[in-house]
Amino acid sequence: MPAVVLVGAQWGDEGKGKATDLLGSRVDYVVKFNGGNNAGHTVVIGDEKYALHLLPSGILSPGVVPVIGNGVVVDIDVLFEELDALNSRGVDTSRLLVSSQAHVIAGYHRTLDKVTERFLGKRRIGTTGRGIGPAYADKINRVGLRIADLFDPKILAEKVEGSLDQKNHLLVKVYNRRAVDVDETVDELLAHAERLRPMVANTPLVLNQALDDHKTVLFEAGQATMLDVDHGTYPFVTSSSATAGGAVTGSGIGPTRVDSVIGVIKAYTTRVGEGPFPTELFDANGEYLLKTGGEYGVTTGRARRCGWYDSVIARYSSRINGLTDLVVTKLDVLTGMEKVPVCVAYDVDGTRYDEMPDDQTAFHHAKPIYEELPGWWEDISGARTVEDLPKNAQSYLARLEELSGCRISAVGVGPRRDEIIPVHDLIHGR
Ligand code: IMP
Repeated sequence: MPAVVLVGAQWGDEGKGKATDLLGSRVDYVVKFNGGNNAGHTVVIGDEKYALHLLPSGILSPGVVPVIGNGVVVDIDVLFEELDALNSRGVDTSRLLVSSQAHVIAGYHRTLDKVTERFLGKRRIGTTGRGIGPAYADKINRVGLRIADLFDPKILAEKVEGSLDQKNHLLVKVYNRRAVDVDETVDELLAHAERLRPMVANTPLVLNQALDDHKTVLFEAGQATMLDVDHGTYPFVTSSSATAGGAVTGSGIGPTRVDSVIGVIKAYTTRVGEGPFPTELFDANGEYLLKTGGEYGVTTGRARRCGWYDSVIARYSSRINGLTDLVVTKLDVLTGMEKVPVCVAYDVDGTRYDEMPDDQTAFHHAKPIYEELPGWWEDISGARTVEDLPKNAQSYLARLEELSGCRISAVGVGPRRDEIIPVHDLIHGR
């Protein structure tokens, strides 16, 4: 112990790296437990910028054991590309462990992701096109490929054949595409096996033993609460469990082992892809947040949709994840605004909702009810305690804390690693 779970509290890209930086050298293991290379985080170390999509951020910290858990879907080409890129810059990646039970993204998953989106037309999800949804669909349909299958060529061939049987009909007859060749696919996958072998481990066992040995294990979610397949804005979600519960199933530890759950939340809101977003702005303020916040996707380069802070979502995230701490990021982006609106509730066709509506149609109709807070003009990037902040920024944070159902334990005030205000220690017992 302790086991610390880190999740995004909105629609992703909240800047989880800020919280990871604060935990720093006290962490022994960093576990990615859901998603795949649909994520994207930029990590800045010294003058070097690293963009990672699949590897857990812990890969860059000397001494930390990075783990790809059983809940992840792994594109092995991408895994090797990211490892090669880091190795060529002198980063030691030899400690990486990959769960033998993690699922594999094959070429046909990527193909299907793209053709299905095209087929959906205006009902598309706006996926990252990385094959994530089709790989998870195969997992649930029990026709998926697991990492362990790569070490048994006969089983692998049977599974690929079984999986492609239906898909080739779909590709040829519905989507008018070429059929995927079974042997070619098997050969491509087998070609990776030897390089992968030393990384593969029984990660649930390793992680439970680490906790028994009083190591600190950080479980870092990909994507975020509102993109979770159960609790997000379904169907405009990703296909995995991005909430705190996913840390348990996606890594093979029991829920009683989790000590704290940190939610990372921006001082405003962003979203990429399609789907409802009540506080979305279509005016100059939205443009300002996009430009000032540098809100462009790391994975697809898409401009993110921007809007005001939504405390209905913050309260929902606090509840669904059982948050013990909130880390508010990018407060500095709001500097220079005369008034900063915060959504306190929704109006749905004339009815006030203080909590998240539990049906999709109501959420699609939700109009934000705002409270306007006074802004500030001073540069806040040098603030290292809450008292260093201008009074109005302090009041803004105090109001967010009141509205969000969870204490604020740190505040990001700039892009640099040290531009943060620590408030409460993020590693603590229950
Ligand atoms: P998928 O995960 O590629 O299937 O995409 C499903 C939805 O999740 C789309 O709206 C994506 O834009 C969104 N999404 C996936 N990964 C991320 C992420 O790391 N940050 C923000 N949005 C994401």
